Amino acid sequence: MCFRFRNPFQTDDLLIELIKAGFDLTKYYDDRDHTTRVAKITKILLKKAAKKKTFEELSSSEIPKIVMAAGLHDIGKCLVGYSDEEEMKEAHTRLGANTLAEVFWNLEVDLGVQRYICMAVEAHHEHFDGNGYPAGLSGKEIPFHAAVIGIANFYDCQKDKLKSHSEVMDLIKEESGKRFAPVVVELFNTCEKDISRVVSS
Ligand SMILES: [Fe+2]
Ligand SMILES: [Fe+2]
Repeated sequence: MCFRFRNPFQTDDLLIELIKAGFDLTKYYDDRDHTTRVAKITKILLKKAAKKKTFEELSSSEIPKIVMAAGLHDIGKCLVGYSDEEEMKEAHTRLGANTLAEVFWNLEVDLGVQRYICMAVEAHHEHFDGNGYPAGLSGKEIPFHAAVIGIANFYDCQKDKLKSHSEVMDLIKEESGKRFAPVVVELFNTCEKDISRVVSS
């Protein structure tokens, strides 16, 4: 894929259109509305995080960008041409991030949202203890917003397997310090009622 857009004055609009097209593409693949719920859970977590001193790296102006990134986190699944579960795991993160990075790079415009989207797509399955994929990042190497989208994704996936809210909360607590950063688990605990309400509605 190699193309350049000639009129730089239209690239902002074009980027917005591309992001909208990305949502439509993701929705086509995701017939259970998983990505919408992950975006909603992410928004709840970020709003709470923005009020806490623990998360000084997060500013309120970043929230809409990260929620947008959450809505596109699995877009790589639309690009993977095979359905083997194992291959899909790694491919949907790397292929998704690489493809989007190339598209964004060719736009030659920086609205500040591209980096959130690419990092969320690539790193939402990384684990705090380094046992995730695709890069095996650990601890602070994992961007904060990708860690938040990761826990939102985990919750919704487990609920989709018909586990109860308290069963999933137990799993999340067990994964503190392993799959998830303890501070992110703590954040999730403080929002659990709102999250449960949003996912059940
Ligand atoms: Fe994923
Ligand atoms: Fe997902």
